[in-house]
Amino acid sequence: MIRRSLLTLSRSSHATFCVTKNNLSASSLLKPPAPTLEENEISLSITSAAFTANNMTYAHAGGPPLNYWHFFPPPNPQLRSLGVIPVWGFGTVSESRSPDVKEGDTYYGFYPMASDYQTLPIKANPHSFTVARSDPALAAVYNTYLNTNTDPFYQSPSLEQPMMIFRPLFLTSFFLDDFLALNGLFGAQRVLLTSASSKTSFALAYMLKRRGVEVLGLTSEGNKKFCEKLGLFSSVVGYDEIDTLDAVDTVVVDMAGSHAVNVALDKVLGQKLVRNIGVGMTHNTVVGGDRSELSEHAVATREFFFAPAWIKKRIGEDRDIVNVAAAEAYAKFVGKSEELRWLDYQVTEGTEKWADVYNVFAGVGGKKVQPSDAHILKP
Ligand SMILES: NC(=O)c1ccc[n+]([C@@H]2O[C@H](COP(=O)([O-])OP(=O)(O)OC[C@H]3O[C@@H](n4cnc5c(N)ncnc54)[C@H](OP(=O)(O)O)[C@@H]3O)[C@@H](O)[C@H]2O)c1
Repeated sequence: MIRRSLLTLSRSSHATFCVTKNNLSASSLLKPPAPTLEENEISLSITSAAFTANNMTYAHAGGPPLNYWHFFPPPNPQLRSLGVIPVWGFGTVSESRSPDVKEGDTYYGFYPMASDYQTLPIKANPHSFTVARSDPALAAVYNTYLNTNTDPFYQSPSLEQPMMIFRPLFLTSFFLDDFLALNGLFGAQRVLLTSASSKTSFALAYMLKRRGVEVLGLTSEGNKKFCEKLGLFSSVVGYDEIDTLDAVDTVVVDMAGSHAVNVALDKVLGQKLVRNIGVGMTHNTVVGGDRSELSEHAVATREFFFAPAWIKKRIGEDRDIVNVAAAEAYAKFVGKSEELRWLDYQVTEGTEKWADVYNVFAGVGGKKVQPSDAHILKP
């Protein structure tokens, strides 16, 4: 049975962080009264979640075609101008009216940016439960919540922070690497990553480097040192130095989604740009729309990579690709990130303080996103 996704309360201190859909600079905290659970419903207390540029992109892609606003629509139709940003994190079952989901168990998954999540599992077993969204067209990969007792990615409580930050990003990088490998790098000699300092980019650089692929990183002047310190790129180039690149066959993997950067790459690479794979929009510019100033070749060689769609296809070909191959690669990668050379984990506790983190990514208040920061939100 498909039900509306209830973003409601299971305790009096419940709070939901909302943003104004048509003005992402504005955020607010909703504190509606606690509802009671209906039969088979469960309520989870969200214990912690990560916030990176990826979550900001969910807000930018809140409307069609990706419709991230449809995951957690506010319960009250009068609040439809507000959007709730999805975050990856952990929730512990605080109350259950489902015979298949036990109170006290903890699940990793896709949560609203809130203190609690009330939902109706439509399928459950000891390892996971699955929910139906109000919009059935949303990618299914977001609908399953994994019990930490049996999840192959869950290693220990001490690795929960890297898991929240990296699991969705690393999986994207793992499958981008898979996509590039299966396509023989489109015949290119090297891969160039924009927003090289982003976690998705440097996780991809890590995967490509393991296979001996030459990877160039393109980043802001201020983030060059961070990228160099990672030791994952064969060279790091600033956005203002794009005209110094050699024109050799190159696949661009574009995390920044900046039209200006793509125009500059088109100018210097010309026909040597063999493929431009659009992945993200860290620079908060909407990709796909603006094609002015790009050559016909640049437009023809651009494609969008949507990790959930590629993962679905690959699971159809190899059922174990996520739980075995990706889980093994993830464990090795997170082992490295745990050296704490790469990131500083910053924990922000209290829903009323979440706006401080959000504002940095939304460009409110003049603070810059620091690539070494890994933000964890706790209610
Ligand atoms: N297509 C898919 O399926 C898929 C899946 C996962 C992730 N993604 C996308 O991959 C991108 C990277 O996500 P992430 O979570 O890895 O990012 P992140 O680590 O939080 O990225 C931080 C970096 O992004 C750039 N940046 C961030 N905010 C900015 C701002 N307000 N203005 C200018 N630059 C900003 C800066 O890099 P530079 O200085 O190096 O530019 C910064 O160091 C996101 O757009 C995400 O949505 C896509």
